[in-house]
Amino acid sequence: MSDSLSDALAALEAEVRAACAAARDDNELRQTAARYLGVSGTLTRLLKRIPELPGPERKPFGQRVNAAKVAAEACVAQAHARLRAEARERELARPAADVTLPGRRRKVGRRHPIQRVLEEVVDTFVGLGFDVAEGPEAELSVNNFDRLGFPADHPAMDMHDSFFVADLDAAARVLLRTHTSTVQVREMLSHPPPVRVVAPGAVYRRDDDVTHSPMFFQLEGLLVDEGVTLSQLRGVLEAFLGRLLGEGVKTRFRASYFPFVEPGAELDVGCLLCRGEDASCRVCKGTGWLEILGCGMVDPVVFSNVGYDPERYTGFAFGMGIDRLAMLRYRVPDIRLLYENDPRFLASV
Ligand code: DAH
Repeated sequence: MSDSLSDALAALEAEVRAACAAARDDNELRQTAARYLGVSGTLTRLLKRIPELPGPERKPFGQRVNAAKVAAEACVAQAHARLRAEARERELARPAADVTLPGRRRKVGRRHPIQRVLEEVVDTFVGLGFDVAEGPEAELSVNNFDRLGFPADHPAMDMHDSFFVADLDAAARVLLRTHTSTVQVREMLSHPPPVRVVAPGAVYRRDDDVTHSPMFFQLEGLLVDEGVTLSQLRGVLEAFLGRLLGEGVKTRFRASYFPFVEPGAELDVGCLLCRGEDASCRVCKGTGWLEILGCGMVDPVVFSNVGYDPERYTGFAFGMGIDRLAMLRYRVPDIRLLYENDPRFLASV
């Protein structure tokens, strides 16, 4: 074998050694190995050329190239071991986990206070024999107002008070329902009497302050049959409030006006906070009473509007603000806290 060929192979070996030593990771090392030892690597190609040489040169050349190949493979294996050791070194240098630290407790979520009160109220009425009904939040204006006996010029029908979705002709006008009384209409239009339902859900009004939110929750009640009386309304509501707020809670009816009931009333409960004994109480404003709901005997006009015989049937209806009850129950001073989703507030109630 010529001296120049021998020198070239020695140079090649040095090149392989340097490349292996320079490899910084497995990927680079793999590329280096492929460059010299792969199917078309430099050393592989040299070995393939042995048959082209004149007979006597084949053996020494073959032996020399083979030795270079074995040396290259050793270099690669060595570099591989070096990389593994380096990785292990880095791993050990990382700060160790302190297994004596206290664990991080996962916070357990819970239902929103409005949802909790809503479910409790619904459960109470279900216990009294009511079914649960639902209606859409985007509702026909006729179901929200006209069929409930609102006169055409009632102020609640102003753009100023309600969110109208589409201003089509009068019959097809759609708005976000301003109360759950719409479900009364839907129930009576779709079922013959007797009817005994409560309807919980979201309602919308153009209101926004400490005690009013543009979206809030109500629960409506409706009971229709032959011979239903005002005293039954009172009995049902007192049974409900007794179960929700504790037996012996004081109640009073106050005459009031709603277009769809006659007579109409508001029901107050004795202040849960001061029990009527603190003239400066902020919850009842010193009156000793809290407004809880509106109610009354279904107006015969409403029966006519939904196709019930007003001569044969009587009924009562009631509607209450769930947010109001939640604020009382959890002593929440500002309704907006219920809708801001601040975890500090939600964890406190
Ligand atoms: N819908 C009324 C409101 O949102 C509440 C109400 C009052 C509902 C009297 C009733 C009722 O069913 O009889 O202010």
